[in-house]
This record gives sequence, C-alpha cells and structure tokens, in this order.
Amino acid sequence: RTFNASPKIRQTKLLCLAEFGPVFVQEPDDVIFSLDSDEKKVMLRCEARGNPPPTYSWFVNDTEVHAEADYRYSLIEGNFIITNASEITDYGRYQCKAENSFGTVLSRDALLQFAYLKPFSTKTRGGVSVREGQGVVLMCTPPLHSPEIIYSWVFNEFPSFVAEDSRRFISQDTGNLYISKVQPSDVGSYICLVKNPVTNARVLSPPTPLTLKTDGKPTVVHQ
Ligand SMILES: *[C@@H]1O[C@H](CO)[C@@H](O)[C@H](O)[C@H]1NC(C)=O
Ligand SMILES: *[C@@H]1O[C@H](CO)[C@@H](O)[C@H](O)[C@H]1NC(C)=O
Repeated sequence: RTFNASPKIRQTKLLCLAEFGPVFVQEPDDVIFSLDSDEKKVMLRCEARGNPPPTYSWFVNDTEVHAEADYRYSLIEGNFIITNASEITDYGRYQCKAENSFGTVLSRDALLQFAYLKPFSTKTRGGVSVREGQGVVLMCTPPLHSPEIIYSWVFNEFPSFVAEDSRRFISQDTGNLYISKVQPSDVGSYICLVKNPVTNARVLSPPTPLTLKTDGKPTVVHQ
C-alpha cells in the first residue's frame, strides 16, 4: 500500500496521532490577593498539552484538594478557582498536576497570599514629654496587615511628612519614630501613616502629642 498524502498532510496526521505525556504550557504563578476588592474570587492557572488530553488535579501544601468536596472550589480546564477566598482557609502553597496515560507532571509551587490593612485602634494616645536635647521614641503600633507595610510619619498636619535625617529615623520593622537631641521645633503632633504596597491602601493613627519637659524652674531670661 502506498501512502500518497503530501508530506505536509502526512506530518500533521502523525502529530495528531502521536501520543505523548503532558507538558506544561502554563504553570501557576504566586498570587497576592487583595481582600479590599469586591470579588473574592481567586484563580490559579494551569494548562498542559498532551495526547490524550491531560486531566488536572491540585494540591495545597502537598495535600490533594478535593474540588468536589467544597462548593467554593471549581476547576475550569486546568484552572483552579476559589470563590469567597479568605486568608484563614486558603493561604498556602499550591501545585497543579496534569496527567494522562503517558505521564504525569507536577507544576512549580505557587504561593497564595492575602493583602489587607485594618484600621488603627481609635484609642486616644497619651502625649510624650521629653527634655530638650534628649532622645525619644514614638510608637506606631500598626494595625493587622499583610504583607509588610511601609511606614511614614506625619508632623502636625497632612501632608507634612517627617523627613529622616541625622536626628530622625523611622524603623521599617516596627514603624517607630526615633528622634534624638529633641529641639523646640520638634514639639507638635505626630501621626503614623502606614501603606500597603500591594493595594495602596493607607491608614492613619490617632495623633501622639510631643511636648518639652520643663523642670518647673522658671526659664531664665537674660535681659
Ligand atoms: C463567604 O464567607 C463568609 C465568611 O468567611 C460567609 O459569611 C459568607 O456567607 C460567604 N459567602 C458565600 C457566598 O459563600
Ligand atoms: C498551608 O501551610 C501554611 C503554613 O504551615 C498554613 O499556615 C496554611 O494554613 C496551610 N494552608 C492550608 C489551606 O492548609
């Protein structure tokens, strides 16, 4: 028997017939999901080529997800969708598995994280009193947040920010403001401002007044 199809058609036929194990076209990416958005629906993507077409399953923290067991889960082709996602139930490391009769591939890890920034406690903050020339620490005490936030301080009135210099330092770990060698010009009201770099949400703390401590002795005025 002669096979007289053109080389091009022959090749196409061979490709259609050739069976092969799955190969990823799309592996899931890390996701930082903003809880400030209205739609609480997360999608983790996964797509693989293979013949026969692969079937998909998903793992969270190395444990297989039973998509049919939770109404919040759905699979659309290889993509995994979580509706009403929340940090408590869904934070974790996700992997997609694609398989057919010729093989199995497991994707890289994709970390699903949640971004949020709660308001500061509205409790009034006590004033801080310091002697001129001494140092002082003003506490930010940030609200619950994820991921890390960026700290700055407002002096007296927005948008007048405290500029860091040789006397003033803002810790990006705690948000606390350190002022050394306090001067009369430092007296005023300080507000910690925190910003979520993912959602750009910003919240302000209640003000902390800074005053100069006097010894109770009258100030000597040279006439
Ligand atoms: C979404 O989750 C919250 C609690 O996390 C629940 O109160 C609410 O009913 C859920 N909404 C839907 C549509 O499942
Ligand atoms: C995955 O593991 C992390 C870290 O141990 C844990 O905080 C998280 O709740 C786990 N996620 C799920 C969905 O089990």
